Amino acid sequence: MSELKRAVEKLKRERNALILAHNYQLDEVQEVADYIGDSFYLSKVAANIDCDVIVFSGVRFMAETAKILSPDKTVLLPEIDAGCPLADTITVEDVRNLKHLHPGAPVVCYINSSSEVKAESDICCTSANAIKVVSSLPDRKVIFVPDENLGDYVAKQLPDKELVLWKGCCVTHAKVKPSAILEMRERYPEAKILVHPECEPAVVELADFAGSTSAIIQYAENSDANVFIIGTEVGVLCWLRNSRPEKQFFLLHPGLVCPNMKKTRLQSIYDALANNHYQIQVDEAIAAKAKHAISRMLEVV
Ligand code: 13P
Repeated sequence: MSELKRAVEKLKRERNALILAHNYQLDEVQEVADYIGDSFYLSKVAANIDCDVIVFSGVRFMAETAKILSPDKTVLLPEIDAGCPLADTITVEDVRNLKHLHPGAPVVCYINSSSEVKAESDICCTSANAIKVVSSLPDRKVIFVPDENLGDYVAKQLPDKELVLWKGCCVTHAKVKPSAILEMRERYPEAKILVHPECEPAVVELADFAGSTSAIIQYAENSDANVFIIGTEVGVLCWLRNSRPEKQFFLLHPGLVCPNMKKTRLQSIYDALANNHYQIQVDEAIAAKAKHAISRMLEVV
């Protein structure tokens, strides 16, 4: 074990801290994490864990969600500018305008959104439960923000619903074009191609499976196939190569690297614990309303 890793473990014990890491985090971060998973799993963990300090190795909206669900704990985001460009595509005013244009339609917000947008929404969702969340609503017309590709994916699974979508997208997943799938099919005809529903619809249509990062991991771990092309952020490959060394995994596109998720290093985790930074705070009134949308999601699934 490296000196730095030992120091992190020591600080964790001293501060009664737990580290939550998204599947997209670097190997060196995943190695010291107590919980690793997709956005849905990590929100459930954040709502229920017993500790004084949560170090959230991910991006800001994830750390804010943890703080909203566990307001009495200190929640640290090790890299202050680890944001999410997708979450930044929509403001609370944009949501209010959509509600004005579609009176009575409930708002489902993807967890990749600001706390203010969550506070203005009826219910939250992640890529793991978006279909369940939308279908749990009695209304035919539903406003779904901000990821247009995920919304399109949900709409296709639920043809009885009318989804009003917002034009937000994940710049990392948007780099993948259908030609990438066609090329990989030719190079690896035996491979299963697994993509995230944040990819554009033409890509999802050509893939063998679409699901959240954890659903992709589970599919690959449990499948009889031996070769997989992974159409989501490269961090998922780190996990899969460790867990199934006998199988082969290739990235669908070399651009599938989220610069924000890669900001957090092992050193960032050490600095966060040593200096108690960067503490996440969410305005109380916003947090109360956002908590309602997040808790409603946790009750549905
Ligand atoms: P999940 O955590 O739901 O797999 O989504 C990944 C993602 O794109 C987060 O930004």
